[in-house]
Amino acid sequence: MSELSVDNVLGIKYLTPEDIQLIHRTADQFKEVINRPIKKVPSLRDITIANLFFENSTRTKLSFELAEKRLSADVINFSAAQSSVKKGETLVDTVNNILAMKVDLVVMRHPNPGAGVFLSKHVNARIVNAGDGAHEHPTQALLDAYSIREKLGDLSGKKVVIVGDILHSRVALSNIYCLQKLGAEVMVCGPATLLPKHIASLGVKVELNLRKALEWCDVANMLRVQNERMDISYFPSVREYVQQYGVNRELLDSLDKEIVIMHPGPINRGVEITSDVADSDQAIILNQVENGVAIRMAVLYLVAAKIRRNDQ
Ligand code: CP
Repeated sequence: MSELSVDNVLGIKYLTPEDIQLIHRTADQFKEVINRPIKKVPSLRDITIANLFFENSTRTKLSFELAEKRLSADVINFSAAQSSVKKGETLVDTVNNILAMKVDLVVMRHPNPGAGVFLSKHVNARIVNAGDGAHEHPTQALLDAYSIREKLGDLSGKKVVIVGDILHSRVALSNIYCLQKLGAEVMVCGPATLLPKHIASLGVKVELNLRKALEWCDVANMLRVQNERMDISYFPSVREYVQQYGVNRELLDSLDKEIVIMHPGPINRGVEITSDVADSDQAIILNQVENGVAIRMAVLYLVAAKIRRNDQ
C-alpha cells in the first residue's frame, strides 16, 4: 500500500493498521532526511499549510511547523488568542477566510472534542487533527508507537500501560486505538475517578495499583494530570496522587526488569514522574519529540499526495 485510506487525519480510530504502518515506513525515510546536514526536501513545494491553534501547544505546534518547513511547504500560523475569534468569528468562517487565501491543508488544535470532524464536513480542505479536547491526538499516538517500535521492535505482543489522568486525555484514547491496531496489549492505570466508566469496553486491561501495572508492562506511558480540564477535584491531594501514581527511581529499581518510560509532555516534574526518572536513559521522552517531526512530515506528505491525486 502506498497511499492512505483516508483524505483527512482526524483520529487513529479512522486509520487502518496498514495506514499506520505506511506512516511509520514513510517516517523512517524522513527521519533519515532530518539527520542529514541538509535537513530539507522539496516534496511539498506546491502545498500551502495553515496551522490553526485554538489551544496552547509547544511540542505539537513547533513540530508541525518544522515538519512543514523541512518539506518546503508554504506555512501560515494562526493563534486564536491574537485573532478575530476574539471578536466572535465562528470556526467555519475563520477557516473559510483562511482557505480563501489558497490554503491546501489545515493542521488544527482545538479545545472542543470533534472539532476536526466537524470542520472536515463544512470546509473544502484537508484537515490534520493536532489534538481536539479530550478526544484524539493522532500524531502523538503515531509518534509514541513509532518510538516504542524503535526501542523494542515490532509492537505485536508488547505490553503498554498508560498511567494517570485517562479521563481527560486525548493521548490515552489515540494511544489505545493505535497500539491495539498494531497488535500490542494495553492497560490503563490510575485513580478510579480518572478512569472513564466504560474504558474496559475498548478492550484494555484496567489496574488501580501502579506497582502491579509496572510489573506487567514493557512500557509505561506516564500522563499529566490535566488540571485545566477539571472543574472539581478528582483525588484528595497532589501528595496522595504522587504517593499512589507517581513513578520514581526507587519504584523502578524495585522491579525485576527494566521497563521503558514515556511521557507526551508537558511534564509535571515531581508529580507523575520524578526528574531522576524523566532525565534517565530509561526514559525516551526526547526521542518521542525527535520522532514527532519525522511522523508529522510523513502524515503531511501522505495527505498532500491524496490532495494531488484528487486534483488530477
Ligand atoms: N504532547 C503535546 O501535545 O504537547 P503540546 O501540548 O506542547 O503540543
